[in-house]
Amino acid sequence: MATRKKDEYKAPVRDFLSDIAKIVEGALAPNPDRVRSYAEHLAGRLTEAGEVVAARRLERALGRNSARPVSLSQGGGGALPVDSESRMPLADEEYVVELETTPVLPQYVKEGLDKFVSYISAADCFIANGVGISASLLLYGPPGCGKTMAARQIAQQLELPLVTARADSLISSYLGSTAKNLRLLFEHAIARPCVLFLDEFDALGKMRDDDRELGELKRVVISLLQNIDAMGPEHVLIAATNHEHLLDPAIWRRFAHKFKLDYPGPEDREILLSQFFGNFVEKRDLPVLALLTEGISGGELLEMSREAIRGALLSSSPQIDLGGFLSSIGLSRPNGLAWHKLDSAGRLAALHEAGHGGITQAELARLVGKNQTYVSRVLKKIKHDQ
Ligand SMILES: Nc1ncnc2c1ncn2[C@@H]1O[C@H](COP(=O)(O)OP(=O)(O)OP(=O)(O)O)[C@@H](O)[C@H]1O
Ligand SMILES: [Mg+2]
Repeated sequence: MATRKKDEYKAPVRDFLSDIAKIVEGALAPNPDRVRSYAEHLAGRLTEAGEVVAARRLERALGRNSARPVSLSQGGGGALPVDSESRMPLADEEYVVELETTPVLPQYVKEGLDKFVSYISAADCFIANGVGISASLLLYGPPGCGKTMAARQIAQQLELPLVTARADSLISSYLGSTAKNLRLLFEHAIARPCVLFLDEFDALGKMRDDDRELGELKRVVISLLQNIDAMGPEHVLIAATNHEHLLDPAIWRRFAHKFKLDYPGPEDREILLSQFFGNFVEKRDLPVLALLTEGISGGELLEMSREAIRGALLSSSPQIDLGGFLSSIGLSRPNGLAWHKLDSAGRLAALHEAGHGGITQAELARLVGKNQTYVSRVLKKIKHDQ
């Protein structure tokens, strides 16, 4: 089999423009028959040009939307499926994903996610060379560490609509209905290209906790596996979970790409704090704050920094109250340091310990509002007492 390069499969768009223009005219008229006949014509020409994936995508859209033209304002995929009992939608849909900031992640995770995006973008090439593509990604890790954000970024980079299903809305209290909901959801998603995002995916695994649910869970897992296997290469599946150990091993294996998004390291915490605080914190304080926020997720950092900024705004101060912020860091942990209850020596000891000795005496002096002589005296005493 001769291997060809990715770009050789990109037939020039101008070859298809007249068909596309006629489809648009038909959709606006609206004249579904005209849309259908030109779309069929276009699918045939795409196949001839070797754009198999694009052609199949169109054919599938034609098969599913035989009676109506595709409307971008409706998201192109028809009404959202709902749970037959609660009538709650099984998913949210965003046609164009917008992100204000990009996730701050370790380099190897960033590279892995970028590679996933390049894989999907090169789907035509892989298929034409007979190696196929596995367009499924599992993001796992503790809450608030950027899984939802990363999934949204991928949809944005791929310029695909994002269909977000919350597993808890999929789970129906009626026997057999969860599997049906899954089928409805997947049918909705594969009606046109999109990223199907199964957020909070562990909710399905949690059915294991209830004995009565076990039979239902088996059916759900089988249904999920079948639905995943039936997805075409032009459909991207992303799932996110906080409890990867609750996932059925067969489901775990279905995801060709898996990344753990963990608590941010000190460098990433510094970047996040700098983004969240802006000018409300002096640059020189960021490394210390990063040092002291070990084990705190990006989501928690965001909330804490917002709270501190609210405090500053209320007191018309240009900067946050560092002491208050340090206190909130302590209080968010099980054995947290209640900053406001500590005297200067106690604060010094707490900072010294939390910073693993990495905070300079000058910084410590500033943080507790004392001079360096005082700091050096207290530190000597701490050392002596140990
Ligand atoms: N790595 C990160 N980079 C940038 N911002 C982050 C990061 N992690 C968390 N955040 C901030 O925290 C918010 C919550 O993060 P997100 O919802 O993506 O977490 P999650 O991993 O999906 O959490 P959960 O498991 O609870 O669903 C984000 O909107 C973002 O503002
Ligand atoms: Mg999330």
